[in-house]
Amino acid sequence: MPTHSMEADFKTAKLKTPDDFSPENIKNLSSVLNALLADAFALYIKTKNFHWHMSGPHFRDYHLLLDEHATQIFDITDAIAERVRKIGGTTIRSIGHIARLQRLADNDQEFVGAKEMLLELHADNKAFVESLRAAHEVAAKANDYATTSLIEVWIDEAERRAWFLFESTR
Ligand SMILES: [Fe+2]
Repeated sequence: MPTHSMEADFKTAKLKTPDDFSPENIKNLSSVLNALLADAFALYIKTKNFHWHMSGPHFRDYHLLLDEHATQIFDITDAIAERVRKIGGTTIRSIGHIARLQRLADNDQEFVGAKEMLLELHADNKAFVESLRAAHEVAAKANDYATTSLIEVWIDEAERRAWFLFESTR
């Protein structure tokens, strides 16, 4: 084995956290949780983007609604990352790392109408719920009850956001 790789292994070993998850479970759980974390950051920024660029007759309502949603999404990011560390994995290190892992698309358009914003966030929150459900399955198979328990709350929160966004577009 080349020396640089041994050094890298030695350094990575310093980030190992004592726990009883198998290397395969650590790999699978870290992978689904880090993808969720990237999506949460992407959704947080998009929700803030739309909060900042909201326009039209419902400005105040929508501006405030999206700020509530952004705060709720941001609040789960630390919990997701720390969950990865607790099970013995490593997590996101940079904006570039987020961009490589995120599955929800950014929206850099110059102008997005109010209703389009709400519809897009509704679809993103629904997709986020699906990703949370998939991560729940992985965590359940690994007997990671702390993660399944957290995910159940995050699903409820995302479904609430989707509900408010849906009702606001009718
Ligand atoms: Fe604000």
